[in-house]
Amino acid sequence: MAEAFQHLNFQRGGLAILDVCCGPATWLCETSLEYNNSQFTGVDMSDVWPKDIRPVNLQFRRANILQGIPYPDQSFDFIQIRFVVLAFTSDEWRKVLNELLRILKPGGCLQCIDLDMRVTLQDASQSRQLIENFEQFYAMQGLDVAAGAKLDMRLSDLDLRIVQSEYREVPLGWGGPIGTASLNLFMGKINGLAPWYKRAVDMSDDAFRQLQDDTRALLVRSKAYMGLHAFLALKALE
Ligand SMILES: C[S@@+](CC[C@H](N)C(=O)[O-])C[C@H]1O[C@@H](n2cnc3c(N)ncnc32)[C@H](O)[C@@H]1O
Repeated sequence: MAEAFQHLNFQRGGLAILDVCCGPATWLCETSLEYNNSQFTGVDMSDVWPKDIRPVNLQFRRANILQGIPYPDQSFDFIQIRFVVLAFTSDEWRKVLNELLRILKPGGCLQCIDLDMRVTLQDASQSRQLIENFEQFYAMQGLDVAAGAKLDMRLSDLDLRIVQSEYREVPLGWGGPIGTASLNLFMGKINGLAPWYKRAVDMSDDAFRQLQDDTRALLVRSKAYMGLHAFLALKALE
């Protein structure tokens, strides 16, 4: 986020930069090439990052961050955690953010970007029942679809100072390529629930497929959107 450049000198370099839960490492590959005199690290529990070719200033480590992030205190100048809204329960979020604070250097920046998956249907005459079923089911698993919207509160509780915050509405299935991509992402998350959902309500594969189709059609037809929050927080100098 733009404000990070006011606090860290990316042009001079020499920074230690970490992307936690980096997934396929798209952000890391792009930024490590752009800022090639800083050192970049990606951590994820599954090694879906590029294995054969990668920038020389980029390395990866496999770890389940719920068991602690395997770096000493105050190791990194800049840490990002992005798009993990459904990866952690509320208690786990607290633990993860505490760990990030521990390994962030004083004066360092923490960038959190995540979804508020509570869906707004712009056509209010449509029933929200389908969406509410899923939201309730996530809640039963201890997951908070609104976790992205609560990150500012969590960061402030940790005594981090938020220096930039941004909010966007993300269209689900309308308005162009971002809408198409975010609908696929949303439906992917519902698909990930399938084994548990079908078992809980004793639903057949065909019935679940129909439910997915109905949900997809509802989102497009009612010009639905979800929220996207981005926060940049600063750790105080000691
Ligand atoms: C939706 S992907 C986001 C990837 C990346 N941050 C991005 O913005 O493209 C979520 C990632 O979180 C990782 N993840 C979830 N729980 C984790 C945990 N406990 N420890 C480490 N990685 C985890 C998953 O393996 C997955 O790669």
